[in-house]
Amino acid sequence: MKKIKNICCIGAGYVGGPTMAVIAQKCPEINVTVVDINEARIAAWNDENVENIPIYEPGLSAIVKEARGRNLFFSTEVDDAIDKADMIFISVNTPTKTYGMGKGMAADLKWIELCARQIARVSTTNKIIVEKSTLPVRTAEALKSILENTGNGVKFQILSNPEFLAEGTAVEDLLAPDRVLIGGDVDTKEGREAMQSLVDVYAHWVPKENILTTNVWSSELSKLTANAFLAQRVSSINAMSELCEKTGADVNEVARAIGMDSRIGSKFLKSSVGFGGSCFQKDILNLVYIAKSYGLNEVADYWEQVIIMNDHQKRRFAANIVSTLYNTVSGKKIAFLGWAFKKDTNDTRESAAIYVADYLLNEQAEVVVYDPKVKSEQIYGDLDYLGSRSPEENRRLLKVVNEPYDACKDSHAIAVLTEWDEFKSYDWKSIYDCMLKPAFVFDGRNLLDVKKLENIGYTVSSIGTPAVSKEEAVKEPALV
Ligand code: NAD
Ligand code: UGA
Repeated sequence: MKKIKNICCIGAGYVGGPTMAVIAQKCPEINVTVVDINEARIAAWNDENVENIPIYEPGLSAIVKEARGRNLFFSTEVDDAIDKADMIFISVNTPTKTYGMGKGMAADLKWIELCARQIARVSTTNKIIVEKSTLPVRTAEALKSILENTGNGVKFQILSNPEFLAEGTAVEDLLAPDRVLIGGDVDTKEGREAMQSLVDVYAHWVPKENILTTNVWSSELSKLTANAFLAQRVSSINAMSELCEKTGADVNEVARAIGMDSRIGSKFLKSSVGFGGSCFQKDILNLVYIAKSYGLNEVADYWEQVIIMNDHQKRRFAANIVSTLYNTVSGKKIAFLGWAFKKDTNDTRESAAIYVADYLLNEQAEVVVYDPKVKSEQIYGDLDYLGSRSPEENRRLLKVVNEPYDACKDSHAIAVLTEWDEFKSYDWKSIYDCMLKPAFVFDGRNLLDVKKLENIGYTVSSIGTPAVSKEEAVKEPALV
């Protein structure tokens, strides 16, 4: 059985970077080279000042500092790294297709296929190929077909090893994963040996009983299933949040009460302005597409509802700001605290903030954004990508500031879009004093202490808590 000495990872993004950093830290005898075609990204990973690495994750810079230059390397020399490696992780992006068949639903596997063709072209020795990217079930079949038709006699084993880390806690998740999942060709000796080689890498720090081996299709499908289940919980509690607002129930109390049922569990029950991130939506859409392609329309419709509910939650939050501000936000300054899709990351992909801002900009609001880790180019890039208005118009209507107090000064309302811890410790009295009155806070994360803010004088609207006092809540809903 092959002992792994050289690992190559194609894709130095949110998954490739942190995952390989941890493998390099925990396996000092293995050389790990992370390659990418994005030169700027690789240059940032190699920045002398380790605080400038391109991905913000608590604890990551210390690990990179320890391993970089020892057995962790970042490079744009893709061919070279592929050829030297015994094991190649493919960790490139698999976004939703924006063209052709499956547009808006299927995963775009263009980059995966390019990797496979490049590996096939340059490899001169046998290799284990590891699918680290999230892929539709049965992608390994396509990879195998590309790799096996090179005619140069090189042998490839394909494994599926989906990543379950969450951004913001990537290092914690990688150091102590609930499980590591490895799918492979369980029916052949070579397949089982390849799986064992990867088990041995993780066994440097993950207890053996937490390393699961399955057939390759189960592994691929488990990743989509895990994301669908997690996102489904958020949409489920968000659906309840709207009912809470109408009935006088408090979604935080409901979540606590149901979360204590050990069969339900307490995680992923936090009601919010809607889930974001690069994967939940893309993976569920992909699941819906796969189900439809097998003719399983009920299965597809079931999961699609998770997305429909999430879109509704984002729109509902924005619409509530407009209606509370006397049905118009035209020319009104609205401060956004947070732009990232969750705290402790600089990632903004599919962040609810983008869609809430877009809605308010359509209503001619003046939005001023402060986020502790997201740069202004990123924020404008996110808005420009939507294509709702010209880049000039986006820059005229939306401003980005480096100071939270600048964002809030002279504003009509503050909207909390990300649950950054620092927002809790602001001097909310001083902020109140420099806002227009009545001073409104829309807490999209149920982060702030509502009682405290109300005592200062704010009018607070949070998610899933009664919009009106309990007595006034609608007792008998109209049946329509
Ligand atoms: P990312 O966009 O941050 O990184 C992907 C990188 O791959 C980019 O830097 C890109 O330049 C590079 N790349 C693309 N094609 C290439 C090629 N042919 N050769 C070399 N480099 C190439 O994406 P990510 O967030 O790291 O996600 C990667 C995969 O992991 C996706 O399938 C995603 O669904 C999955 N995933 C992501 C997360 C997460 O938290 N972000 C968690 C689990 C799984
Ligand atoms: C998610 C999964 O949690 C990871 O296991 C998975 O590996 C990853 O997707 C992926 O495949 O990319 P991530 O998107 O990084 O991780 O972050 P989450 O913590 O899952 O949060 C996703 C979104 O849901 C965020 O916008 C978050 O604010 C929101 N959320 C989460 C809620 O609104 N309420 C909750 O209770 C939990």
